[in-house]
Amino acid sequence: MRNSATAFAPATVGNVGIGFDILGHTVEAIGDRVQVTRAAERGVRIRAITGVATELPLEADKNTAGRALAALAEAAGLEHGFEMAIEKGIPLGSGLGGSAASAVAAVVAGNALLPRPYSTLELLKFAMQGEAVASGSVHVDNIAPCLFGGLVLTVGVDHPRTKQIPVPPGIRAVLVHPHMFLSTKEARRILSTTVTLSDLVWQCANLAGFISACYTNDLDMIRDAFEDVVVEPQRQALIPGFKAVKQAAMANGALGCSISGAGPTTFAWCLERDAARIAPAMVAAFAAHGLGCDHWISAIEPTGARVID
Ligand code: HSE
Repeated sequence: MRNSATAFAPATVGNVGIGFDILGHTVEAIGDRVQVTRAAERGVRIRAITGVATELPLEADKNTAGRALAALAEAAGLEHGFEMAIEKGIPLGSGLGGSAASAVAAVVAGNALLPRPYSTLELLKFAMQGEAVASGSVHVDNIAPCLFGGLVLTVGVDHPRTKQIPVPPGIRAVLVHPHMFLSTKEARRILSTTVTLSDLVWQCANLAGFISACYTNDLDMIRDAFEDVVVEPQRQALIPGFKAVKQAAMANGALGCSISGAGPTTFAWCLERDAARIAPAMVAAFAAHGLGCDHWISAIEPTGARVID
């Protein structure tokens, strides 16, 4: 039996605009790596955090990856413990599912060291416990795609059921990450807890339209349905220049543009041929509001977290 395993978990776009807390997709371009090693003493210890975000807690129960791996160890009733090293590839507070990726990579690596490994759906529940540490709530729209890969819808929290939704061929996600930190807790705190009946109807119609259009390769329907009438209007004020960035993406042929997760990363879906025009237009719009950016253009591949070593 192996003593050590390293897993890679990709970044994710949460919500995908219209699917607040239930719809997300992977972004293979960046991700977190976690190495988990068997340790004689019970419990979980974090040996090191390196990479683009090092100011994270080393105490396992305050760390998303530590909490998720502890949940797995506890459920398995292990006689031994785990030590782990986290290499962050996803910037903190970026809206790219960094906390989910660390939690997922930790449970995928830890699972590889078990004599009877858990199913991916069981790993989802352990990783959800880790995600709750970072955002103060249990949501699955980053964790589920991160584990399963591609565009993933999750229904249910206590007994989650996931569905990989087909992405029409030739679709690319353009991600633009302005250099500012946005706290997920804060971006959730500002949301109204009620919606009007009319907004509920629009949001349901748009989510249903978007999903059915993905199954039928209906790009016109994707474009029409790609509108979050509930969360984006409340959060856009947290991201300087968001309206101009969205306008730049749409003017250059995007099918839709919204906030990735809790932001500030802003993403657009488009056809491959338009991506190279849309990305610099979005970057320029952020620059006009004083924000430097990183950007990525990514296919949405159905590949989730995996053991790489
Ligand atoms: N669905 C979550 C949100 C993702 O938008 O608050 C944040 O990780």
